[in-house]
Amino acid sequence: KHVLVLNGPNLGRLGSREPDVYGATTFEDLAALCRDTGRRLDLDVDVRQTDDEAELVRWVHEAADGRVPIVLNPAAFTHYSYALRDALAQRTAPLIEVHISNPAAREEFRHTSVVASVATGTIAGFGMMSYVLALQAVAELVAETPA
Ligand code: DQA
Repeated sequence: KHVLVLNGPNLGRLGSREPDVYGATTFEDLAALCRDTGRRLDLDVDVRQTDDEAELVRWVHEAADGRVPIVLNPAAFTHYSYALRDALAQRTAPLIEVHISNPAAREEFRHTSVVASVATGTIAGFGMMSYVLALQAVAELVAETPA
C-alpha cells in the first residue's frame, strides 16, 4: 500500500535548522526512518519535501486522484495556507497531520492549524517519532478499510 509523506517549507534544513527545537536529525535521516518504518509496516512510503506551496498543492491533488493516504507536516503552511487546506479537503483517504515540535506549547501564531479540521487526526510533539506514530496510524486505518 502506497503512502505519501509530504513535508513543507524549511524541513529540508532539518539537522541545521534550530536544533534546540527540531533536533539534530537531518531530513535525509528522517526520510530513511520513514522508509524503514514503512518496510516494517508493509507500506510503500514515498517521502518528499518542498518549500513551494504550489508544488505541495499539486502533490495533494495527485494523492486525492489516486486515493493515496498522506502523512503531512505542513510546517509554516499549517498556520495560514487556505490553498493547502482546500486541496486537502478534496481527498478521501486518511490524512495524518504531524509536527515535530508541539505547536500548542509555542508562539501564539502556531496555535492555529487551518489543516487540522480536514485531517483524520494530528500527532505533534514527539520529535521524529511523530512520523513513526503517524505511519502506524495509517497502517491501522488501511487495515480497517476493505480494499
Ligand atoms: C512544525 C511546526 C510549525 O509551527 C513550524 O512552522 C515548522 C515545523 C513542526 O514540525 O514542529 O516549520 O510543523
